[in-house]
Amino acid sequence: MSSGPIPPSPELAADFPVETQTSDADKAFLLDMRRLFRDLAPAYDYLEIGSYLGGSLAPFLSDPGCRAILSVDERGATLPDERGALFDYAGVTTGSMLDRLHRAGLATTKLATHDGPIDTLPADDRRFDLAFIDGEHTDQACFRDFLWALPLMKPTSAIMFHDSSLIHKAIRLIALVLRQSDRPFRLLKKADSEMSAVFLGDLAARDLDGYFEAGETIADFYAASELHVLTANIRNRVRAGPGEERLVAFTVEPPRAEKAYLD
Ligand SMILES: C[S@@+](CC[C@H](N)C(=O)[O-])C[C@H]1O[C@@H](n2cnc3c(N)ncnc32)[C@H](O)[C@@H]1O
Repeated sequence: MSSGPIPPSPELAADFPVETQTSDADKAFLLDMRRLFRDLAPAYDYLEIGSYLGGSLAPFLSDPGCRAILSVDERGATLPDERGALFDYAGVTTGSMLDRLHRAGLATTKLATHDGPIDTLPADDRRFDLAFIDGEHTDQACFRDFLWALPLMKPTSAIMFHDSSLIHKAIRLIALVLRQSDRPFRLLKKADSEMSAVFLGDLAARDLDGYFEAGETIADFYAASELHVLTANIRNRVRAGPGEERLVAFTVEPPRAEKAYLD
């Protein structure tokens, strides 16, 4: 989740030399995905929406198998978030990102950047094998990022999502859009992490057991996410009265059936 810097465990540090807002389990998923795409083709192209200081794109920058990277980031914004809080990224620029990457000893010749949301990206014929959506964590923004990223993806490709519990409704809508379009896809949510991904085209039917552990049950993921988002909103926005402190103890009950009409 968007929070302070999370230093990687020692075994992940070499692949993540720049600060990233991902946990170790999230990082492991990024590396599993990198291994898959390295094995699939001699070269692959990576799209990232929401790069912050470049920490999550660093393992792709250092991978000789990754041919090109496009980082799309609406820099300098204060972001709304499904938790009912605002997250301020003002002051972090593309220059800050490039500086951090260079200081970590990473060449950036294969990295292109776009400062703005993906729906302002000029049309071109670039197509990507792998994408990571980690920009504004609202359902609406994530759904938009997916809608604009999808036409940029190759037929056999994958799109990853971070902070999946926050944008779980966007993921539900994405699954509906893909189902309605008759496009083969598979949705995977990594257990004990905030990472999920949709695998498209041939990857939907491919045996990926050598790359990923069995994921969380999707129904359990949706139920836990709904509770998480509701609880975060109560903590962040609900007070017993004006000027009161946050609620420290409360219970969230399952929805109760109400009669929807008068007899
Ligand atoms: C959670 S951070 C990304 C973290 C990064 N992937 C990492 O692991 O370190 C969110 C980023 O999204 C960017 N952002 C804000 N609005 C955006 C938008 N509409 N499209 C793309 N990126 C956006 C912010 O500037 C910030 O850099």
